[in-house]
Amino acid sequence: MSARKQTDMAGELERLPRHIAVIMDGNGRWAKKRGLPRTAGHSAGADSFRRAARYCQKLGIEYLTVYAFSTENWKRPADEVAGIMALLEKYLRQALRDLEKERVRICIFGALSPFAPELQKLCRECMERSAVYTGAQVNICLNYGGRDEIVRAAKRWAADGCPELTEHTFSGYMWGGDIPDPDLLIRPGGEKRISNFLLWECAYSELYFSDVLWPDFDEAEFDKAIAAYQHRERRFGDVGKSE
Ligand code: FPP
Repeated sequence: MSARKQTDMAGELERLPRHIAVIMDGNGRWAKKRGLPRTAGHSAGADSFRRAARYCQKLGIEYLTVYAFSTENWKRPADEVAGIMALLEKYLRQALRDLEKERVRICIFGALSPFAPELQKLCRECMERSAVYTGAQVNICLNYGGRDEIVRAAKRWAADGCPELTEHTFSGYMWGGDIPDPDLLIRPGGEKRISNFLLWECAYSELYFSDVLWPDFDEAEFDKAIAAYQHRERRFGDVGKSE
């Protein structure tokens, strides 16, 4: 049964997460199991990302944030990094062609300066041209690190002349600005850690770990993750409803 159907039946439409974040892990192992190069795993991972973005949009999830390349991923072999860059370029070119059809706002979280000028240009063009769409938003984290984001936010705040600071105003200096924090963080691939992803934003997110490798994480897996989320009681530090 789809997550949308489950939610309708439970009469809990408001319990659908507004924002889902995903650590797209397990591409390398997916490729290894098939005797393929790691880049083939990332290519399957990119397909899985496209499928996820469409499915989340269909379900009415407002924000999907994916970890595509971390500040630490530059340490990987040069051919693997080049392979991921080529996939990103391919995705962004296709996204520009499909803007009108997909009608999704695309944002990049992370400093673009280390990327090739052509890739930077594509990122900026995608962000600028898709900004007109007011429905779903996809955030692609590139050269992203959670600690790096917090340090940059502090620097931006200082450069702004240190205005009065609250948790809410500080959030505005993060890459996502004022978008809601992720309700649900999904990590496929079997590891159970956050890996420097959205450290500030995930303070109260529900965490969902799965052994399924990211390229195999299909609509049915999203349904399972959303159903698990719908059975959690979010207390935000308060006592539970039953107390
Ligand atoms: C982690 O799996 C995955 C990455 C570091 C790269 C993710 C990149 C993509 C899915 C492709 C480009 C993305 C877009 C948005 C088009 P891993 O390689 O660490 O897997 P492993 O743990 O099995 O080795």
